[in-house]
Amino acid sequence: MIESTGSMPECGSSWEEVREALVYAGRDDVDWRDARTAVYVFNPGADVMQVAKDAYALYQSENGLGLTGAFPSLREMEDDVTSMGLRLLGAGPEACGNLTSGGTESIVLAVKACRDQAASEGREVAGGRIVVPRSAHPAFDKAAKYLGLEVVRVPVAKDFTADVDAMADAVDDKTLMLVGSAPCFPYGVVDPIPELGQVAEAKDVWLHVDACVGGYFAPFARMNGADLPAFDFSVPGVRSMSADLHKYGYAAKGASTVFHRTEAQRQFQGFSFDDWPAGGMSTPTFAGTRPGGAFASAWAVMHYLGVEGYRAKAKLVTDTRAKLMTAIEKMDGLHVYGDPKLGLFAYGAEQANIFAIWGMLKAKGWFTGVITEPQGIQLMLSPAHADVADEYIADLSEAMGKVAEAPKPKVGSPSYN
Ligand SMILES: Cc1ncc(COP(=O)(O)O)c(C=O)c1O
Repeated sequence: MIESTGSMPECGSSWEEVREALVYAGRDDVDWRDARTAVYVFNPGADVMQVAKDAYALYQSENGLGLTGAFPSLREMEDDVTSMGLRLLGAGPEACGNLTSGGTESIVLAVKACRDQAASEGREVAGGRIVVPRSAHPAFDKAAKYLGLEVVRVPVAKDFTADVDAMADAVDDKTLMLVGSAPCFPYGVVDPIPELGQVAEAKDVWLHVDACVGGYFAPFARMNGADLPAFDFSVPGVRSMSADLHKYGYAAKGASTVFHRTEAQRQFQGFSFDDWPAGGMSTPTFAGTRPGGAFASAWAVMHYLGVEGYRAKAKLVTDTRAKLMTAIEKMDGLHVYGDPKLGLFAYGAEQANIFAIWGMLKAKGWFTGVITEPQGIQLMLSPAHADVADEYIADLSEAMGKVAEAPKPKVGSPSYN
């Protein structure tokens, strides 16, 4: 068996040997193929994953840096994917977007566009503020760190959604951006975007909706009848959105979208340069080389599934979430946090040590997230979880029986990343 030694081998090996070593390398990885992992991996079923993989392989060498001259194919795919995304997210004809490598890049680019537009209007942007609910993703803090800004995290309301009044109070003359999530990562609840939109308009700040998790899920859940308030460009104050294709878009990893309400806004996102010996270079995103495979994978899955396919996948997920939530609420001492309506939710225990329960479930092969405020177990569900929900409920019920007997000094949160 080939081993990783840190030195390049003098001679190569056959693909069969290399492949065998690759498969072996994953021996201790979480078991996502059997749907026992509810974080990091979005498993829509073997057929969709095969489409995502084959499409990636078809375009793995093509480079999205060369959209205009070399690869009109990738330009067409980027235009088509972003147009599909914008239509799903209630955008008008002025709106536009780009493919990026992931949610973090989409968020950093939106923050950069916001900052640079403010600077172009003569505002002092050094130390400018982004006001976010406490539940917002750390990608905003990363953006702030890179871009010389500050994040103000505002405690969430009792139902775990953004506290609109408190956020409005936190806006001052240094505030450039307000943020709402659809949904947020810790609890899976959607922030009140229409109300945040009103604050953004009244105070003339940019509202970004982080729909990295919900962008390619919530529109289909709504078509299926989920009772969700508007969370997208249909809300007038929303200036930009992030929506990940490599989450509930089911594309191969390395694919997200960043959207702007207007082309004028997007002008502040990109980068152009020509003062070197190889001519002009313009990039709409952070990357130089952009992976054609990720473009093709997203494009292919969207055309493979279509609205009907995504709606069916969304229904599997929301039905599974409802089933799990009902079973959890029925278990003595357990409760779900807030009123999550998409594919992500968290639950905690009144008395029992929830992290001990998490550990027992992990020992049975279940790998999920945890949250700390309040302590809880968090699940980001995929369509494939429909097949294992009953087993999870049974294992949770067994763990609850055992944890009651176990000593329960509360420990710090287990690390899962
Ligand atoms: C709500 C939310 N925003 C942003 C991100 C960042 O996305 P990525 O990990 O693709 O950079 C995540 C990731 O889970 C997320 O849940």
